[in-house]
Amino acid sequence: MAWIKPSTELSNKSFLLLPHPSKAKWSDRDKGYEKVGTKFALLTIWITHWMYKWRNPRCKNGILPPGSMGFPLIGETIELIIPSYSLDLQPFIKKRIQSSSGKITEKFNTFLEGLMCLPLNIPGTKYHRCLKDKDEIIKLLKDSLKERHASTAEARKGDFLDHAINDINTHKFLSEDLIVHLMFGALFASFESIATALTLAFKFLSDHPSALQELTAEHEVLLKNRKNMDTSLTWDEYKSMTFTSQVINETLRLGNLMPGWLRKALKDVQVNGYTIPAGWTIMVVPAALQLNPNTFEDPLAFNPWRWKDLGPDVISNNFMPFGGGMRQCAGADYSKVFMAAFFHVLVTKYRWTKVKGGDVFRNPILGFGEAIHINFSRIA
Ligand code: HEM
Repeated sequence: MAWIKPSTELSNKSFLLLPHPSKAKWSDRDKGYEKVGTKFALLTIWITHWMYKWRNPRCKNGILPPGSMGFPLIGETIELIIPSYSLDLQPFIKKRIQSSSGKITEKFNTFLEGLMCLPLNIPGTKYHRCLKDKDEIIKLLKDSLKERHASTAEARKGDFLDHAINDINTHKFLSEDLIVHLMFGALFASFESIATALTLAFKFLSDHPSALQELTAEHEVLLKNRKNMDTSLTWDEYKSMTFTSQVINETLRLGNLMPGWLRKALKDVQVNGYTIPAGWTIMVVPAALQLNPNTFEDPLAFNPWRWKDLGPDVISNNFMPFGGGMRQCAGADYSKVFMAAFFHVLVTKYRWTKVKGGDVFRNPILGFGEAIHINFSRIA
């Protein structure tokens, strides 16, 4: 039993916890209470410990798969038996079979939607969701880094993540946190860009069968000239793809995937009689060049053949899908090779037709109203 006495020695606002003078001697009843209280505290600690051990079981031979043990004894049975009125997978199972990469894709979609919106961080706004999704993606990436770090040498895949983990030992500046943010940056830069460019290419090629025919013919010639049919696409073959690179250029020109690049004026800049003061942010809009009718005749038409007649100077001054100046896209060449390899597989291994969709919109990022639905069949 205790009472609180103001302590003038410390300060007016301080208190000391002292036994009350009238209770200095404890009665038997008090002692009984104390015993019961101690037993109750010990029982609570024991139950908490037991529940912690239940929820975080140890495994002597390796790492247990991720998952929840649910409540003690009944586990997650109740969630499993909750009825679901659909032919689809039961929600309990559906939630658990969704891979982390699936979750990342989903989160990236909603994260990207919030990049061009009013920065109002209030629950319910796109911006709020975007920030939340960013945190969740970072968490998912952290989890996969930890999982991979703890995995055995045989379980390693030799991918970017494995290389980064190995490099932690030799490169002091590489921390787990930095790797996670690098992965986030690489996914952010590559996730939407190539996928959108390829979706747009599907739309253009299905609307222009003659272009698809010429593209297919170019790749069939490559196959015909290949000495060993077991080898995959080579660098020389990639360099010889004239029409393919014209299709890629035309798709990127019309796609204007990056609505603008942001730059800061380091000093006052004079443009057409106006002054852009130092410190201002400028948005450079490449579409103004790439859709300029003085350079590209009938600029909104998909015409890959136009690239035959454009000189290198015209191209370098008017076509900048990967940025300009000092900070250009780090993935420019990779993206072009990726798209070329994708087309190679597409036209040599598959036949396809557009079923529906492919309507585009800009907000100002390029998007597709109801996506594009394609029917594929593999060439025998
Ligand atoms: C069709 C595909 C792509 C397009 C059109 C594209 C476009 C661009 C553009 C215009 C910029 C410059 C932004 C600025 O100057 O402010 C940029 C920057 C960047 N891109 Fe891409 N990109 C594509 C794919 C990729 C891929 C696949 C990767 C990574 C594998 C990537 C990595 C980067 C990085 C790291 C930067 C920042 C470079 C820096 O600031 O130093 N991009 N991209």
